[in-house]
Amino acid sequence: MPALVLLGAQWGDEGKGKATDLLGGSVDYVVRYQGGNNAGHTVVVGDQKYALHLLPSGILSPGCTPVIGNGVVVDPSVLLSELSGLNERGVDTSKLLISGNAHIITPYNVTVDKVTERFLGKRKIGTTGRGIGPTYADKINRVGIRVQDLYDESILTQKVEAALDVKNQVLTKLYNRRAIAVEQVVEELLGYAAKIEPYVADTVLVLNQALEDDKVVLFEGGQGTLLDIDHGTYPFVTSSNPTAGGACTGAGVGPTKISRVIGILKAYTTRVGAGPFPTELFDEDGEALRRIGGERGVTTGRDRRCGWFDAVIARYATRVNGLTDFFLTKLDVLTGWEEIPVCVAYEIDGKRVEELPYSQTDFHHAKPVYETLPGWSEDITSAKSFSDLPKNAQDYVKALEEMSGAPISAIGVGPGRDETIEINSFL
Ligand code: GDP
Ligand code: IMO
Ligand code: MG
Repeated sequence: MPALVLLGAQWGDEGKGKATDLLGGSVDYVVRYQGGNNAGHTVVVGDQKYALHLLPSGILSPGCTPVIGNGVVVDPSVLLSELSGLNERGVDTSKLLISGNAHIITPYNVTVDKVTERFLGKRKIGTTGRGIGPTYADKINRVGIRVQDLYDESILTQKVEAALDVKNQVLTKLYNRRAIAVEQVVEELLGYAAKIEPYVADTVLVLNQALEDDKVVLFEGGQGTLLDIDHGTYPFVTSSNPTAGGACTGAGVGPTKISRVIGILKAYTTRVGAGPFPTELFDEDGEALRRIGGERGVTTGRDRRCGWFDAVIARYATRVNGLTDFFLTKLDVLTGWEEIPVCVAYEIDGKRVEELPYSQTDFHHAKPVYETLPGWSEDITSAKSFSDLPKNAQDYVKALEEMSGAPISAIGVGPGRDETIEINSFL
C-alpha cells in the first residue's frame, strides 16, 4: 500500500484532520496537495486540541514527514505563525518540506479576494477571504509567484510588477482602492525568504524516491469533493481540486502509485459559505446538529449550515474519486434522535433522480427524498467495536454503506484519537 489519498466526501469539515492524524502513526509522509489556509483541520490528542490550516495533520506524528506539495498555495506569514505556534507547544516541525513550485499567496491576492467578494454582494461565494481564488487565478494566468521566486530578488520583482500591472488598474479604477506598491510587496516577501528556506525542497523527487523505497505516503485533501473546482457545485466551490486526481497533479506522483482512496464522510451533512445544499435544515433539528456537533468553522468561525445525510452526494463522491472505503465520522452526534431521515434521491421538477445532476439549475431545484431510519438513545462514545453499537446505530451505518457504494472501514464516535471504531482494518 505505497500511496493513499484521504479526502472529504462532502463539502469539507468531515473530520479529515482526525483521520489523517490516526493514520499518521503508520505512514512515512503526509502530503497536502491542494488548497491553502482556507482549510481548518482539527486534531485532538489527549487533552490537547490543535487547529491546523496549512500544515499537514501528519505534523503531529513524530515519525512522519509532513510535505506541502506543489499544488498548495502558501501564505508565508500564516505558515510561519502556524509553525511557531506548534513549536511553542513542543511540536517538532523541523522535518517539514515545502515544494519550491508551490505558489505564494501574496498580500494583494488577499486584498483582491476580499474586495471581489464585497463587490459580488448577494452573489458572493462566501470565501474564507484568505486569497485562495485570486492566487490560483494568478497561477493559471501565469503571473503567479512561487516559493522558489523568493530566492531571486530580480525575478521576484519582475513577477510582482507583472502581477500588479493589471491588478492595480482594477483596484484603483474599478474598486476605488489604493494601488499596491511593488517595492512594499517585494520587501515583505523577501523578509520571509530566509525563514522558509530550510524547508524548501524538490518534493516531487523526494516523494517518488520514497515510493520507490516502499515508504507509505498519505495525501491529505483539504476542503471536499463538492467544493472541487471541476466536480463540485460550481461556482460555489474552492479554486482547486480536492478530488483524488488532484493528489497526482498537486504532488507530482503518478496515478499508478495510488492504491487506496479513503473518503471521509460525516454521518450528516454540513456546508460553510454560499451555494446549494438540498438537505439543509432550517428548523430545530438543524440547530441541534450544529450545537451537538460543534459545527462552527475552524478557519472563519462562521456557523456551519447543517442538514441530514445525503446519499446521492456520497455516491457521487465514490464515483468521481474512485473511493475504496469510507471513514464515517461523528456518528455520536446523532445519538438521541428517535428517527433519522436520510436523503436517498432527489425530486427535481416532479421527477425522482438517483444521481447528482450535472446541471446547476437542476441541482438548485433538487428536493430531498427521505427514507427514515430508527434512531438510538444509548451513549456510543465509548464503543470500541461495531458490536458495541446499539442495533439501530449498526443498521444506520449499514444503510449508509449500502447507499454510498463503498465499504465503511472506520467510524468516529468522538473527536479523540481513541474514539474510533475500526472495522475493516482501517489502520
Ligand atoms: P476537517 O476540516 O475535515 O479536518 O474537519 P474539521 O476539523 O473542520 O471539523 C471536524 C470537527 O469534528 C472537529 O472539531 C473534530 O474534532 C470533530 N470530530 C472529528 N471526528 C469526530 C467524531 O467522530 N465525533 C465527534 N463528536 N467529533 C468529531
Ligand atoms: P476544510 O479543509 C469547509 C469553502 C468556503 C467557500 C468556498 C470557497 O477544513 O474542510 P475559498 O476561501 O476556498 O475560496 O472559499 O469554499 N471552504 C471550505 N468549507 N471546509 C473547508 O476546508 C473549506 N475551505 C473552503 O466556505 O464556501
Ligand atoms: Mg475543516
